Amino acid sequence: MEERRLGPVVGLGTWNTFGTDASLAGDVVEAALTAGVEVFDSSPMYRGAEASLGKALAGRGTIATKIWAQTVEEGREQYRRQREWFGRVEIEQIHNLVSWEQHLEWLDGEHDGKLGVTHYSAGAFGELARALRTGRFDVVQLPYNPHEREVERELLPLAAELGVAVIVMRPLAEGALVQREVDPAALRELGVDTWAQALLKWALSDERVDLVIPATSRPERTAENAAAGRPPWFTPGQRALVEELAA
Ligand SMILES: NC(=O)c1ccc[n+]([C@@H]2O[C@H](COP(=O)([O-])OP(=O)(O)OC[C@H]3O[C@@H](n4cnc5c(N)ncnc54)[C@H](OP(=O)(O)O)[C@@H]3O)[C@@H](O)[C@H]2O)c1
Repeated sequence: MEERRLGPVVGLGTWNTFGTDASLAGDVVEAALTAGVEVFDSSPMYRGAEASLGKALAGRGTIATKIWAQTVEEGREQYRRQREWFGRVEIEQIHNLVSWEQHLEWLDGEHDGKLGVTHYSAGAFGELARALRTGRFDVVQLPYNPHEREVERELLPLAAELGVAVIVMRPLAEGALVQREVDPAALRELGVDTWAQALLKWALSDERVDLVIPATSRPERTAENAAAGRPPWFTPGQRALVEELAA
C-alpha cells in the first residue's frame, strides 16, 4: 500500500462496527493488519470500541483516537484510559471541536504525538479552519466523498498551505454510497474491482489527502478496502466518472 505522512493510506474506522464485541474486534483487526492497514481511528464516543480495539491490537498499529469531553477533567480521564488500553496514542484528536481551546492547552503540554481536530458538519467548518489557523494542529479529520465536497472550498487548501495532514472520515458516506449497483464496465475503466474501492480511490486521488478510514464490521471487507490504497491514482477524467456514477 502507498504510504503518505500518516503511514499506509487506508486505515480503519471504528464507529458503529464492533463496539464492545471484543471477539468481532479481534477478527476485523486481524484481517485489517494482514491487509496492510496500520492506522486505527476511534473515540470515547464509539460505544466501547476503544477498549475492544486496544485488546485486539495488543500493542500493534498506529492509534488515532479522540478526546470527546466538555470538561478538562473528563478529557484527562479519557486520555489516561486510552494509554491504559493502547499503551500510547500516536494521533490524539479533539472530537467535533468539543471544548477544543481548553483541551488544546493541556494536550499541547502532555501529548508528545501528533495533535488533531475533527468535525463532520459543514456548519462547523469555519470554526475548524480557525482551529487550524492556530498552527498548533498536525492533523485534521473531515468528511470527503462525492456527496460531501464542501471541504474543497476552504479546508483542503488551508490544510495544504499549513502542512496539516488530512484524514478522511465517511469516505463511503456512512455506507449510503455503496448501496448502488455500478456497471462492471465502468469499474474496469477505473481499474478497480469494486465500487467501494472506486470511492476510496476517488478521495485518495486528491494528493492533499493522507488517509481514508472506512469502517467495516466485516473482516473480509478490510482487504477489499486496503487494495484501494495502491496506485495508479485516478486521472481527473476518472474522478469525474466516479462523481457521475455517484450522482
Ligand atoms: N466527527 C468525527 O470525528 C467522525 C465522524 C464520522 C466518522 N468518523 C470516523 O470515520 C470513520 C469512517 O466513517 P463512517 O464509519 O461514518 O462511514 P464510512 O466509512 O463512510 O462507511 C461505513 C459503512 O460502509 C460499509 N462498508 C465498509 N466497507 C465496505 C465495502 N467494501 N463494501 C460495502 N460496504 C462497506 C460498512 O458496513 P459493514 O460494516 O457492513 O461493512 C459501514 O456501514 C468512522 O468509523 C470514524 O472512525 C469520525
